[in-house]
Amino acid sequence: MTARKIIIDTDPGQDDAVAILLAFGSPELEVLGITCVAGNVPLAKTQRNARIICELAGRTDMPVFAGASRPMVRPLVTAEHVHGKSGLNGPELWDPTMPLRKEHAVDFIVKTLRLNRDGAVTLCVLGPLTNIALALIKAPDIAEHIHEIVLMGGGSFEGGNITPMAEFNIYVDPHAAKVVFQSGVPLVVMPLDLTHKTITTRKRVARFKDMGSKAGVFTAEMLSFFERFDQEKYGSEGAPLHDPNVIAYLLKPGIYAGRELNIEIETESALCLGATVVDWWRVSGRAPNAMFMRDVDDDAFFELLFERIATLK
Ligand code: BDR
Ligand code: CA
Repeated sequence: MTARKIIIDTDPGQDDAVAILLAFGSPELEVLGITCVAGNVPLAKTQRNARIICELAGRTDMPVFAGASRPMVRPLVTAEHVHGKSGLNGPELWDPTMPLRKEHAVDFIVKTLRLNRDGAVTLCVLGPLTNIALALIKAPDIAEHIHEIVLMGGGSFEGGNITPMAEFNIYVDPHAAKVVFQSGVPLVVMPLDLTHKTITTRKRVARFKDMGSKAGVFTAEMLSFFERFDQEKYGSEGAPLHDPNVIAYLLKPGIYAGRELNIEIETESALCLGATVVDWWRVSGRAPNAMFMRDVDDDAFFELLFERIATLK
């Protein structure tokens, strides 16, 4: 089996961390590098958190890069109110000793895509789209070499989670999102409409804890923290586990269902900034530019997570 090559672009974030662990536990995937962006917390913390996750999983060989420290146009908006001050609150954290690579994340993305002109590389995007947009602007030639971009972001029927109309990742850098959605690169979008169906119930969190391994217990501790805020907000039994859907889709696309349609990004309106305008009924006449996922077999999603995270130490 040849493993599928991916780059994970991320702003960890507890749910980003679980997504990274899922990738590390999956032999079908070859993670070429982790590129960090400012989002849930500032860049200094997201790159630190990414290295903590690598060390947790025994992957100190993984190249980790720092990218954009702020969005393209707007000032950075962060989400400590959801993820805690560190971005990874819950478990006890440590100062990672594995190095941060010197190369800028955007340069790594460009270089890697130029080295893989056969379209072998998939970009998995778990945070604001700043690094990806900057790479596409810096080196437009890479667009045709990207296999596809699978991203967590946006929403339609579910509304927004940072404003009534906008999902966090798109809201933080709507201008970058616009560049990506207009790039012509095949896009698979995991919006709130889908991620609100993958809920971390107490029983599911207990399954991670019961693994007894470092990675299992760490995951349970992260999700228990993450859950507090979202339970209050949504009144549900647990919290939506957003980002791991990006990786799970690569492993088990058959558990997802959606539609090819057009999505445009709102960058002008004060009220609706960062909204994803999703043409579900195809009324705009605009050509489809994304696969918008709306349904998932949530039990199969969690079974996959249990199975793969259990393989880590
Ligand atoms: C997205 O925003 C972040 O808080 C999460 O990590 C996820 O990527 C959900 O809106
Ligand atoms: Ca994220």
